[in-house]
Amino acid sequence: MVFSLLSLHLVSVVWSHYLMKAVTFEDNNGVSTGINRLHLDEPDTLWTRQYENFDYVVVAGEKWFLKSALYFENNTLVGCHYCLDTNTTELGFEYAYRKALNSTLTFMTGSKHKPVVVFRTMAPDHFEKGEWNTGGYCNRTRPFKTGEIEIKDVDDIMHRIELEEFERLKAINGISLKLLDATYLSLLRPDGHPGAYRQFQPFAGKDKNSKIQHDCLHWCLPGPIDSWNDLILEMFVKDSN
Ligand SMILES: *[C@@H]1O[C@H](CO)[C@@H](O)[C@H](O)[C@H]1NC(C)=O
Ligand SMILES: *[C@@H]1O[C@H](CO)[C@@H](O)[C@H](O)[C@H]1NC(C)=O
Ligand SMILES: *[C@@H]1O[C@H](CO)[C@@H](O)[C@H](O)[C@H]1NC(C)=O
Ligand SMILES: *[C@@H]1O[C@H](CO)[C@@H](O)[C@H](O)[C@H]1NC(C)=O
Repeated sequence: MVFSLLSLHLVSVVWSHYLMKAVTFEDNNGVSTGINRLHLDEPDTLWTRQYENFDYVVVAGEKWFLKSALYFENNTLVGCHYCLDTNTTELGFEYAYRKALNSTLTFMTGSKHKPVVVFRTMAPDHFEKGEWNTGGYCNRTRPFKTGEIEIKDVDDIMHRIELEEFERLKAINGISLKLLDATYLSLLRPDGHPGAYRQFQPFAGKDKNSKIQHDCLHWCLPGPIDSWNDLILEMFVKDSN
């Protein structure tokens, strides 16, 4: 059974912010100098040109879609999300996320190459008392217990879209699509983020209470998301029995 995993001939992570072709204007601290431009019908060649090299593909979308952006289809501006321009139709991130998942799967079903595709659902952030750019932090040192935390509305909406699109798409012939629903598992792990330590020695030369940017979105490694790998391996092993 494990043999099929050893036959993977490449491992690679492609970081495409939106899965789709996009022009972004952000620095490493997430500070934007322009509004992101996102092509909802053009899968990003960063991943599509490598697609045929892989037997197993894990796809995830999530948080970038919440940012303000201009949306293009067929190279034409069709609307935006939070662009504060009264002349451009507000379509909402839900519209863009559905389209992007649709375009991703349309590409996959249209390709002759048929890998096993795992769709990993979104992982909530754990900012408290603010967002990433308004002093939010995450300093909890233990997981939540079941029922101790509720998912934020926006994360819930995103997760619902993922489940709905997955249900629709898995019915399409010719694609082996599996769901890794990582959302609730991840919700319970506020203790798994870098927090203040998104940079080396964040307090060097500063007072320990000084205001620094925290990261309560990305995950530490080793950390909770290692369990995603365990779950994926378990899914493959089960299927090969
Ligand atoms: C896309 O745009 C081109 C030219 O800009 C136009 O000829 C074509 O009909 C458009 N396609 C769709 C599907 O709207
Ligand atoms: C909206 O469109 C009108 C008419 O074309 C134009 O006069 C106005 O400057 C535009 N507003 C913005 C914010 O672009
Ligand atoms: C994408 O959306 C179109 C239009 O809503 C639909 O007809 C098509 O089945 C969808 N395809 C996939 C792969 O979701
Ligand atoms: C987390 O930070 C807040 C605000 O600085 C503080 O009140 C709280 O005691 C801290 N909790 C832990 C577990 O360090």
